[in-house]
Amino acid sequence: MTALPTKTPTKTMVLGVALVLLGGCEIGPKTATQTGYRGAGLNQIINPKLIAAASAIPEAPYPLPPEGGPTAGESYENVKVLAGLGRERFDHLMAEMTQWVAPPEQGCNYCHNPENMASDEKYTKIVARRMLQMTQAINGRWASHVKQTGVTCYTCHRGNAVPAYKWVIAEGTPEPGKVLGNRHGQNAPNPNVGYASLPYDPFAEYLGGRAQIRVASSSAFPNANHIVSIKAAEKSYGLMMHVSGALGVNCTYCHNSQSFRSWNLSSAQRGTAYYGIRMVRDINQTYITPLQPIFPANRKGPHGDPYKVNCTTCHQGINKPLGGVSMIDQAPILRGASIARAVPEGGPGAGVAVPAAFSRPAAMTDAK
Ligand code: HEC
Ligand code: HEC
Ligand code: HEC
Ligand code: HEC
Repeated sequence: MTALPTKTPTKTMVLGVALVLLGGCEIGPKTATQTGYRGAGLNQIINPKLIAAASAIPEAPYPLPPEGGPTAGESYENVKVLAGLGRERFDHLMAEMTQWVAPPEQGCNYCHNPENMASDEKYTKIVARRMLQMTQAINGRWASHVKQTGVTCYTCHRGNAVPAYKWVIAEGTPEPGKVLGNRHGQNAPNPNVGYASLPYDPFAEYLGGRAQIRVASSSAFPNANHIVSIKAAEKSYGLMMHVSGALGVNCTYCHNSQSFRSWNLSSAQRGTAYYGIRMVRDINQTYITPLQPIFPANRKGPHGDPYKVNCTTCHQGINKPLGGVSMIDQAPILRGASIARAVPEGGPGAGVAVPAAFSRPAAMTDAK
């Protein structure tokens, strides 16, 4: 009896310590997939619950009508992109776009003046027309990345007018022109780069521009091959932190740590990622940035540029967006099948399975 009061706090303490220690663990089953060479320990550990939650896709507004009948071009006044599509399919796509992008309380009127559906007076309609072309380009030109799974407006928008994950040119440093005080975005903990002390804006140069993603040149002294400075190494790592976080994977999902540079040792996923980087540049440079004058001020960042796409916009923490579930059969016109595939940089051209760049890394480093 006298022992009880001393025993109980001990048990509580053990329990308390156990809770603190286990507090860092995620509860629930995990699956481990081997993604690299056998025995190399290149495993990915996944929480299937998280994937199931992120992959919930909305039900189609009504069943997809058959193709055929009078076209939208014949039936309506001001159809520029989808003129050849059957009118019933066109109407179905309008209902889907409303569900995928428009705030529910506004519905069709988010893009249309209900008195005059043909009018282009709302900026949202002009943006949506360009987004239709962009989505077709992603599925056609960039099938090297999105494969047959493809994307729809929902992959990025998920029912929001503005996608939840996007970027603009960062606010900048207080005294950008000066050497002293310009930290190049370093030591400013930011989730984009996993709270590391790396430069926090890897997007403007690598996903807005076409800067080389390299940690070092293939030569020590300035010559034709010396095209990245050592300073670029930290920025490149910053982007790699973003890529890993966006897909919910670690570095060895794509790289073999024996040599991060060697394409021969890398996984096939690194090739897919290579095309993904070029696809994102094309999305931002060809489609979104030119819409800058169309967007109102509240849809732009502190430097007046529109919100742009990075890997998280579609992936949202999963190696395949929406857990690999395809929605494109519900909107086949978005396939954009007639668009030619992009030719890899440094590669010999279309029709060749492995671009030269992959077997000869210097092909991508060569200054052009
Ligand atoms: C996210 C923006 C958006 C939403 C929401 C939207 N539309 Fe549209 N709508 C467009 C665009 C863009 C076009 C022009 C397509 C083209 O040029 O190929 C268009 C064209 C039309 C046209 C052809 C008008 C004409 O005479 O030229 C009709 C009809 C139409 N939409 C009906 C609807 C209906 C009905 C809804 C609601 C169920 C709806 N739209 C929701 C963007 C939208
Ligand atoms: C690759 C990702 C992506 C896809 C796919 C995509 N969008 Fe967008 N969309 C964006 C981003 C990012 C913005 C935000 C631009 C801004 O606000 O500065 C945007 C903005 C918009 C806007 C303006 C929203 C507003 O309120 O200002 C409309 C309308 C729109 N998209 C329609 C569509 C439609 C329709 C589709 C499918 C045909 C589509 N989008 C597919 C990324 C995407
Ligand atoms: C989803 C695939 C993927 C993941 C995950 C990934 N990388 Fe990369 N990495 C790439 C690709 C693709 C390139 C080549 C970029 C290019 O040329 O466009 C690259 C390039 C690099 C380079 C430059 C090699 C050279 O030629 O100089 C380094 C170093 C690197 N990654 C390190 C990392 C590190 C460290 C991580 C983890 C934090 C990581 N990567 C995660 C795909 C990935
Ligand atoms: C427009 C949407 C979109 C964007 C943006 C995007 N991806 Fe993807 N990605 C996809 C789709 C869809 C797939 C699935 C393709 C498939 O079914 O094999 C995919 C697949 C991948 C895979 C292969 C995964 C696997 O397990 O086979 C990698 C790696 C990848 N993406 C990397 C990236 C990187 C890196 C970026 C940013 C530079 C990026 N993605 C941006 C849509 C996107």
